[in-house]
Amino acid sequence: MILGAGGMLGTDLCKVFPDALKFTHHELDITERELVIKTIRENKPDVVINAAAYTKVDQAEDEEELACAINGYAPGYIAEGCALAGATLIHYSTDYVFDGSKPEYIESDQTNPINAYGRSKLLGEQEIAKHTDNYMIIRTSWLFGKHGRNFVDTMMRLSPQMENVKVVNDQLGRPTYTADLALKTAEIIDMEPGIYHLTNSGTCSWYDFASAIIPNVIPCTSKDYPTKAKRPRYSVLRNTKTTPMRHWKDALKEYLKEKRA
Ligand SMILES: NC(=O)c1ccc[n+]([C@@H]2O[C@H](COP(=O)([O-])OP(=O)(O)OC[C@H]3O[C@@H](n4cnc5c(N)ncnc54)[C@H](OP(=O)(O)O)[C@@H]3O)[C@@H](O)[C@H]2O)c1
Repeated sequence: MILGAGGMLGTDLCKVFPDALKFTHHELDITERELVIKTIRENKPDVVINAAAYTKVDQAEDEEELACAINGYAPGYIAEGCALAGATLIHYSTDYVFDGSKPEYIESDQTNPINAYGRSKLLGEQEIAKHTDNYMIIRTSWLFGKHGRNFVDTMMRLSPQMENVKVVNDQLGRPTYTADLALKTAEIIDMEPGIYHLTNSGTCSWYDFASAIIPNVIPCTSKDYPTKAKRPRYSVLRNTKTTPMRHWKDALKEYLKEKRA
């Protein structure tokens, strides 16, 4: 069963799991506890994959309650349903559960979110663990994919409109292609429960990432480009549990090729 099936990652998951029962936001609102539990119990899935989320990082500073309802408490309801139905829960979390004070983070590292979105996603991890042991929480980062708004598309839109596009050079992370993440999810589905860090390989700054997309980009610092939500300086997720995914540059090439096709 796939929840959040209409989102950027959700749509790619639906391609990888064509026989899954799929629920878009319109079809199942994950904040409706009774309905969520009832839907999972009635359908008796082996696995529930939750790709539904509140993903507006800056807006979350003004809407933390809403972000927590969707990213925090709702995953707990899904976990309750999974526990009653005997299903495994696969859920996605984020690099933003960390504060960015270390160059990279492994799965067991101490969390300490520095923005409202990160706090809401950490709450989701905690609520899941309260209700079931049979979960896989996949932390990922800097997603881009065909079926949602993302950084790559923003750069391609801005590039012809501006002489130079300023992009921050002091936040480091790992861009991740949703098509790759969906395939990797299928690959690890029978592994041990627990927390996984899954991203494309290779570390870069947003400036490096932008430079691989458009020609007219210039670096700036986070101070030159203030945003409502603070971002961690380092948000590199190191995967210590499974084989690495391909380099983000190879994934980006494929994404750009498919966009042009
Ligand atoms: N995007 C990133 O860079 C990034 C980075 C790290 C981790 N993640 C995590 O990866 C996962 C997938 O992210 P994504 O970028 O694919 O997100 P997305 O494109 O924003 O998709 C999220 C989906 O959830 C749906 N949704 C929102 N509220 C809902 C609710 N109450 N009930 C049911 N569905 C609801 C949205 O529907 P509407 O559009 O109709 O609201 C949308 O279809 C999320 O857990 C996210 O936190 C994302």
